[in-house]
Amino acid sequence: MDLHKLISMLADGEFHSGEEIGECLGVSRAAIWKQIKRIEELGLDVFKVTGKGYKLSAPIRLLDGDRIFDGLNSSASSWIRKLDVLTITDSTNQRALDLADTVAGKGYLCFAEYQSQGRGRRGRKWVSPLGSNLYFSMVKEFANGAAALEGLSLMVGLSIVNALKEFDIGGLSLKWPNDVILEGKKVAGILLEMTGDPSGLCQVVIGVGINVAKSKMMDEIDQAWISLGEVSNSSLDRNQLAISVVNSLVASLEKFEVEGFAAFRPGWSEYDALKGRSVSLATANNSINGDVVGVDDTGGLLLRTEGEVKCFKSGEITVRLES
Ligand code: BTN
Repeated sequence: MDLHKLISMLADGEFHSGEEIGECLGVSRAAIWKQIKRIEELGLDVFKVTGKGYKLSAPIRLLDGDRIFDGLNSSASSWIRKLDVLTITDSTNQRALDLADTVAGKGYLCFAEYQSQGRGRRGRKWVSPLGSNLYFSMVKEFANGAAALEGLSLMVGLSIVNALKEFDIGGLSLKWPNDVILEGKKVAGILLEMTGDPSGLCQVVIGVGINVAKSKMMDEIDQAWISLGEVSNSSLDRNQLAISVVNSLVASLEKFEVEGFAAFRPGWSEYDALKGRSVSLATANNSINGDVVGVDDTGGLLLRTEGEVKCFKSGEITVRLES
């Protein structure tokens, strides 16, 4: 049975009888029951009431590829060569990596309602329940290898913040290198993966996950997190959110290609959640304590440690309790 059709039927949040579903989708009661179980495993709450049928605990608005494409501005839509909205996939980053060096892949944008193996930075898992959040990846080609990518992940974080401002969401900040923070908790993450020639023509997959609504499945996340729905007055349409974030991202990428991260540094500093804070930076070999000064023109972290300011290109930050 086509799971997407069943989810689309239930999306209105109303009751649908087994008979109605069976007739529409041409399947048996037993097959429906099996797929309802599957939908629950993927993260949606389904009520089952004898005599009435099945109903989602709340209506959902599914992602719609045509609507997203139509809402994009001319720079973003002319960049796209292929746009997919997948109901279930392992990871949109993986789908994008698989296509990255094909013609279509050079302007590929891939959304998913559910990821079975959503991945985060540093080998972590990105919990990706069905229909609640935004998960997408896009492929961008760069001519000058890894050196031209300095600060790219910070730029992506800033462009997400700029897009979220359109939805009247206050209390946003950025935690180096690229966590988007809302009221002190993580609301969005970015994972860049590169393929191709590291010193020449390469393709970068930009993967973005934004928490939009709470879901039981997200209880397993082991860090402080929040969803946009917790602070937004109106119900957020993920399609509209997708349009704004992609428009913002494409505009920023065009500027980044010409001017590099330096052009985004003032904007990033405005939202810097760590400036002036005492932190520990865990690098590959050791842990360094210091006070954050800011970021430099390449997106490196400037840390005052042992009386001098040093620049770090990677590492994991923990904020220290100030005494
Ligand atoms: C992080 O750890 O902060 C990065 C999270 C990135 C998650 C997104 S969701 C869409 C894309 N596909 C993935 O598998 N990961 C990224």
